[in-house]
Amino acid sequence: METEHKYDLSGLRNFLDTSPSPFHAVNNAKQLLEQHGFTEISRTDDWKSRTDKHFSIRDGSLIAWFSSSNCPFENGFRIIGAHTDSPNIRLKPLQEHPSTTFEQLSVEIYGSPLINSWLDRDLGMSGRVVVQTESLEQKLFLTDDPICRIPQLAIHLDREINDKGLKLNPQSHLTPIWADASPSFLTFNEWLGEQLSVKSSEIMSWDLMLHDTQRSEFLGANKEWLASARIDNLISCYAAILALSAVEKETLDTTPLVCLFDHEEVGSVSTSGASGDFLAGTLKRLMSDTPEEGRAQAYENSLCLSVDGSHATHPNYPDRHDPNHVVRLNGGIVIKRNANQRYATDAVGEAIAKKICTKAGVSHQVFSNRNDLSCGSTIGPTTAANLGVRTIDVGVPQLSMHSAREICGVKDQNDLRLFCETFFRLDGITSE
Ligand code: CO
Repeated sequence: METEHKYDLSGLRNFLDTSPSPFHAVNNAKQLLEQHGFTEISRTDDWKSRTDKHFSIRDGSLIAWFSSSNCPFENGFRIIGAHTDSPNIRLKPLQEHPSTTFEQLSVEIYGSPLINSWLDRDLGMSGRVVVQTESLEQKLFLTDDPICRIPQLAIHLDREINDKGLKLNPQSHLTPIWADASPSFLTFNEWLGEQLSVKSSEIMSWDLMLHDTQRSEFLGANKEWLASARIDNLISCYAAILALSAVEKETLDTTPLVCLFDHEEVGSVSTSGASGDFLAGTLKRLMSDTPEEGRAQAYENSLCLSVDGSHATHPNYPDRHDPNHVVRLNGGIVIKRNANQRYATDAVGEAIAKKICTKAGVSHQVFSNRNDLSCGSTIGPTTAANLGVRTIDVGVPQLSMHSAREICGVKDQNDLRLFCETFFRLDGITSE
């Protein structure tokens, strides 16, 4: 099936399907990087004079780069940022949920999902579990078995739903069922212990979340689209990692770096989020041998691409889009502009992005929000403000953003990879 398609997206689809949590996205990115000769540096090691291809992980975030002695940091960095998290439904810390007819899971909402899209789906579970054996150990956990579901109320019991709209109370209406109520039923901790082959008493805590078990799939009469969970923003993470793995360091004048951040969907303020010190601290450690004046030059010579999902113009809701800024699926890279700095791109950044598109042989589109709707945002502005590095917000278009199952264009994925590679190869285009 896959080989029949003009664009081979098997790698991307595998990344989307096997990364239901930020921890799995980071682990899959790690494996891709290791296949291309990158090695992990622990953040507790001494980083002095480390050059070559490395990456470093902090919880659900990862930064990868390669540096070489013939390319001084003063020449600047080419940074691509994206985010590993997606809006979803997460498990609360205690799971003794009282119910008379079903065993249910206690959950909370992460970020801003289209909650209706989570109803009546067969849900699996993933994330990390902290286990106490010899010492505290973090274990990745993933099951694609459909173990739970949030059942929608039958229309016979709510006749007005199609006219008056669906109203969901996040406390009372989103509690998944996951077993018949039975006195002999395993508790959640016992079940999780069995899954992880540890004693339930050894389970200390978790960051666990639910995901739709349906895999990604080509869609459309000509298979021109890809339907999947977590298109926002794993497609950007994947393109960035692929581009970093493809460029050859002998051909570069600047230092390429990729940062994949957790917690974008909840505002980025965390130790691993884009507003934390993960990127700034990493750059500081990388440049520990570079004098202060050289470090200042490095930031001035740097450019950052903040890559995140963009809205395609919805054919059924043209009134929700600016009529002069139409964005099409498979229409190429979207350059995002917003005068109120919800996106970091300025005129210079827009011009640079257009030049990269020309060099890469891909088309571009420009997004601007309607004035009577509030605009989304991404990691671009916070990264720009934290580092003082010119930042360009771009992405590829999608429909159904923040649905449990989103849609994007197939051709755009190829364009994004080429765009990211060309960005890393930029030499003459600087911030001036
Ligand atoms: Co996003």
